[in-house]
Amino acid sequence: MSVKYVPEPFRIKMVETIKMLSREEREQKIAEAKYNLFNLKGEDVYIDLLTDSGTNAMSQEQWAGVMRGDEAYAGASSYFKLVESAQDIFGYKYIQPVHQGRAAEKVLFGLLMGKGQYSISNMHFDTTRAHVELSGARAIDCVVPEAANPSLRVPFKGNMDVKRLEQLIKEHGADKVALVIMTITNNSAGGQPVSVQNIRETSEICKKYNIKLCIDAARYAENAYFIKQREPGYENKSIKEIVKEVFSYADMFTMSAKKDTIVNMGGLIGIKEDEKLYQLCKGRTISFEGFITYGGLAGRDLEALSIGLYEGIDENYLKYRIGQMEYLAGRLDDAGIAYQSPVGGHGVFVDAKAMFPQIPYYEFPAQALAVELYKEAGIRTTDIGSYMLGNDPDTGKQLKAEFEFTRLAIPRRVYTQAHIDIMADALIAIKERASAVKGYKITWEPPILRHFQASLEPLK
Ligand code: F0G
Repeated sequence: MSVKYVPEPFRIKMVETIKMLSREEREQKIAEAKYNLFNLKGEDVYIDLLTDSGTNAMSQEQWAGVMRGDEAYAGASSYFKLVESAQDIFGYKYIQPVHQGRAAEKVLFGLLMGKGQYSISNMHFDTTRAHVELSGARAIDCVVPEAANPSLRVPFKGNMDVKRLEQLIKEHGADKVALVIMTITNNSAGGQPVSVQNIRETSEICKKYNIKLCIDAARYAENAYFIKQREPGYENKSIKEIVKEVFSYADMFTMSAKKDTIVNMGGLIGIKEDEKLYQLCKGRTISFEGFITYGGLAGRDLEALSIGLYEGIDENYLKYRIGQMEYLAGRLDDAGIAYQSPVGGHGVFVDAKAMFPQIPYYEFPAQALAVELYKEAGIRTTDIGSYMLGNDPDTGKQLKAEFEFTRLAIPRRVYTQAHIDIMADALIAIKERASAVKGYKITWEPPILRHFQASLEPLK
């Protein structure tokens, strides 16, 4: 085997039983779920790779923190501890907790943009795009072209295309570009990292045109680990030093803490120094989320979050974490299975178009692979392709996605090497019978975000 598994830097003292249904039962369950994996019950899933968000295992220190959580409505000690930890790591003056990432977007974006304006990002995550659009503004993705080629191995495939960014600003007018958002890692491009150099260059362009730069920080720690591994000059810096430098180039951040901060619920807004903006944020937090010292979370969540901030930037942990991705990717390389490479930080994005060349985009190859993975081994994944993209809002015609990925998102500190081997074995078994796999058609769909709820039927 080409890649060695990095052993877990922890041992297990609490377990949760999971069971694998028989193949017959799995085929029945997925048919009852109308071939939509979101309709499955969690208990009918053996290995759940739907998302790495909020599905992480907390440590004994975090659980001890849960018991210590201060539930005071105002001024809880857990709040002050969280603010202090986040100030220490990110170097920002103002920190506002909220209940998850999209809440941070809701509170902040409504203050920054509106009709006739644009947000430009290396890639907007779905909810980020939704909150840009809810404000009345429009979202433009501006990732480097290398991201579109899954077999091309370059170190920072998540980067902003800085030349195009400047062109877009000139084209639309700097006053029309309300915000530039740097998503680290770039989830939609396959958990691909962004380099310090790229963040610095993006920041210089923003300064030149007087545009604010916001970091979407969901997977900032995994991004920092890739920088340490891949960017010249950073090999001897600590993860904390790299994080601090990265954030020094931006004006603010939104964060879903359900990822790299290793909790089940939580989010943050960070503002570097703009006191006026922070005051406005506080007002919106109170109306949307709750009083500023709890921001939609329980005191115990604030406590677990402040501990998770440090556990998430522990280099030993990150070596194991990224090591799991690299191990799975290595097994796929050995079997000739294509994925977005080099592998990203939070999952393996398998190239379903390469696996099923006989299935056109409008018959949803990545959804077909997701269904096959459930039938093969009780593994739940998600389509990141044309099925998720949906229809053109003006013409109602199915859009063609740039990629047809099936995402195996790996929860943190949850699955072992044996589970990862089951994932690889299942993909290899499917590849062997790939030419017999058929596509799907949609029999019912809601008007927006259809992939969560739609019903499908296998084609004959
Ligand atoms: N930004 C990024 C880059 C994300 O990946 C997500 C969530 C959010 C913002 C929103 O955060 O869920 O806490 O409200 N991504 C999850 C996923 C859901 O499966 O990739 P949230």
